[in-house]
Amino acid sequence: MNRKILAALGSAVLALSMAACSGEGAGSGGNDGDKPADLTIGVSMPTQTSERWIADGNSVKEKLEAKGYKVDLQYAGDDIPTQSQQVDQMITRGADVLIIAAIDGTALSGQLQAAADAKIPVIAYDRLIRDSPNVDFYVSFDNFKVGVAQATALLVGLGVQTKDGAKGEAKGPFNVELFAGSLDDNNAHFFFNGAMETLKPFIDDGTLKVKSGQTAIDKVAILRWQQEGAQKRMEDLLTSSYNDGTKVDGVLSPYDGLSRGIITALQNAGYRGAEFPVVTGQDAEIASVKLIDDGVQSSTIFKDTRLLAEQAVIAGEAFLTDKTPQANDTETYNNGVKVVPSYLLPVQTVYKDDIKPVLIDSGYFTAEEVAAGQAG
Ligand code: BGC
Repeated sequence: MNRKILAALGSAVLALSMAACSGEGAGSGGNDGDKPADLTIGVSMPTQTSERWIADGNSVKEKLEAKGYKVDLQYAGDDIPTQSQQVDQMITRGADVLIIAAIDGTALSGQLQAAADAKIPVIAYDRLIRDSPNVDFYVSFDNFKVGVAQATALLVGLGVQTKDGAKGEAKGPFNVELFAGSLDDNNAHFFFNGAMETLKPFIDDGTLKVKSGQTAIDKVAILRWQQEGAQKRMEDLLTSSYNDGTKVDGVLSPYDGLSRGIITALQNAGYRGAEFPVVTGQDAEIASVKLIDDGVQSSTIFKDTRLLAEQAVIAGEAFLTDKTPQANDTETYNNGVKVVPSYLLPVQTVYKDDIKPVLIDSGYFTAEEVAAGQAG
């Protein structure tokens, strides 16, 4: 063979092997030249019982569809086998990228292996998926700071601290009770750790007393973040620890749904008006925003799901165009196998005075929705 033919053969082999490689690993979701209309993004959400996940699902879908992509959005009714099955189906139907908010962060390893085998990049949405090497990116909020903000809001509500972080007038001692989310949700641990780091000095010096003695996360956690579970635990606490005439002054609650269960238990036990305990929350759910406006719930933590959806779309599009999404945290989220590159968004505490500037003026809710306690 002459040199020209050899060279031509060489470059053909090189081109072939490069083509083979370009389909490999994270970031290979799309095929070169695919138009958005040829690409499908599977979006797996945990439940429709909490309005935040409905808003998340809708935002991600709308934003992807606006860019021309096809979207396969599924809700799993907080049932782990259902979510596994839905993700399996997304893979067999040929999803090019998966965006998953897991119910149980440890239950999807099999699906994620199948995704990796099919070269489908996986983005963990808000909740980290654990114990799998096949999580390519994580979009969430700063979950430790959520916990710090919840605990701080409890201290501010009790008057122990001021909003600007200075020492407050109130000295206590105050009776408080603690709640955490579902133990199988990685976030529940971050929220609780952030909160406990903030509250510990006040518990240690006697300003705060946890009368039930229940301060370990496995004692205070509520499976699947269920409102009824929180109501039941609050009722049990009132019966077991507050039947001697002492009163609860504050409750650390990590999610508005739990807060509503806790509030119902407190109201049923006769708590009213000025003696109503300080109850925290998270997610700025419309029913709870109304409770804050009415002076019943003390605060919530606002996480703008529109911004989270936007980050998920940016990450998904990066993978579809063979790019690596940009992380702003490459240290915090070790999923048990590896540190997952993450994009974390900031959070905002909302007290009554913040409803207008933070939630209404930003277009998240209208004033009418807040007044009605119902969106839409
Ligand atoms: C989310 C919270 C939410 C909770 C219950 C957590 O993983 O980060 O925003 O309140 O799940 O749905």
